[in-house]
Amino acid sequence: MANKQKTIYCCSECGNETANWAGKCPTCGAWNTLEELRLEAGMKRGGTGRGRAAALQKPKKITELDMSAEIRFSTGIPEFDRVLGGGAVMGSLVLVGGAPGIGKSTLLLQMCGQIQDGRRILYVTGEESERQLKLRSDRLGIKNDELYVLAETDMDSVLASFDALAPDTVIIDSIQTVSDANVNSAPGSISQVRECTMRIMRAAKDKGLTVFVVGHINKEGSIAGPKVLEHMVDCVLYFEGERSTSFRILRAAKNRFGSTNEIGVFEMAENGLKCVENPSEMLLSGRPENSPGTCVACVMEGTRPILAEVQALVSPAGYNAARRCNGIDYNRAAMLLAVLEKRGGMPVGGCDSYINVIGGLSLEEPAADLATILAVASSFLDRPLGADLAAIGEVGLSGEIRSVGMLNQRLSETARLGFKRCVIPAHVRDEIRVNGGLMLISVKNVGEAIAAVLGKK
Ligand code: TYD
Ligand code: MG
Repeated sequence: MANKQKTIYCCSECGNETANWAGKCPTCGAWNTLEELRLEAGMKRGGTGRGRAAALQKPKKITELDMSAEIRFSTGIPEFDRVLGGGAVMGSLVLVGGAPGIGKSTLLLQMCGQIQDGRRILYVTGEESERQLKLRSDRLGIKNDELYVLAETDMDSVLASFDALAPDTVIIDSIQTVSDANVNSAPGSISQVRECTMRIMRAAKDKGLTVFVVGHINKEGSIAGPKVLEHMVDCVLYFEGERSTSFRILRAAKNRFGSTNEIGVFEMAENGLKCVENPSEMLLSGRPENSPGTCVACVMEGTRPILAEVQALVSPAGYNAARRCNGIDYNRAAMLLAVLEKRGGMPVGGCDSYINVIGGLSLEEPAADLATILAVASSFLDRPLGADLAAIGEVGLSGEIRSVGMLNQRLSETARLGFKRCVIPAHVRDEIRVNGGLMLISVKNVGEAIAAVLGKK
């Protein structure tokens, strides 16, 4: 059985493997995503080389398992710790994905400067030269005697340096630049990315290393094709934000050691990323006073309420009504405009409508519906809502305003930020605790909400 090769095809969208090539992936239906994957004799599909030792393992009772294994350490960056679920877990593999230039290398290099307890760190850079990395670390003011840099892309050399240096923490920047000489394809291809991640993972689990792997995302939003990576690693974090704004959000898509609800908020500044402890204050700074077409919404990001400004501009359409949405789902916005027209009696359907959320934030929670509808109505009527007003509530297709979860937390945050009035659903699930100085306006439907804060049509 000398070096027998087998070829399978792997979909870069969903990670599915098939024996034959096809133009369309039979599982997810994406076109042109099947890539050739050569397996050397002895390599197994889905995972290489495992299974031999596993056969000798005896199943254990769950009650007898040792729980002390999960030890966390702080990355030194509070917002990063929060997303990881209270610090990084020793021996875990964390994938940090994001569009090129969003700040992944900056975040991880800053972490190298902040980590305490004399942990030995190895930063493997396949993207930048040693000189470039040095310039960046000087700019970020990093002084850590236990930080080692290796500008290398060959997998064997990288793994050899794990043995030579015996680091506790490793950063691979990025997975698309490292390659395994035994795999016959270009760096960044599915076979390479998969095989390299496998090898890194095995080395990490054997030696108990904590590894942070950087993965670039292609324009479809998957990590350079391989969804394959997502199921192999312990934690998948995405770094998001508009490159034109300084606001950045770190979001967990998968976390074997914590919840995936938490987000970390950062601001990209002159000398690196700064944690934003009060995202609402930053998002609301510079709001126009008494201008029509703006309303503040309160959404929950994990356990943290965040207030964000929704702006709308509605003007009579010249020819074909245009609709543009930024930070809010297009279909959701179309639905809200239809509800406003049919249930609120405002003919906005024939108008050009632009809806924008300030700061590059995207509002995915339906709790922002009411604020969106009020911003549109305010622009349509050309009457301001007032800078002291916020709105919380989901809007249904009959124009009813529905209750949302964690209302009390949202209201306390709204009050804390100095708002004086808040529109809320008339039917609420929890009992509302009185909030100092915040006037609550309970409404049953869209018509009532508009009448209460914008007056008669
Ligand atoms: P980088 O971390 O290189 O992005 P990635 O690794 O995700 O590709 O970030 C690059 C951008 O960040 C670059 O456009 C410049 C900006 N930046 C700052 O604004 N301030 C800084 O201190 C640093 C280091 C970068
Ligand atoms: Mg980089």
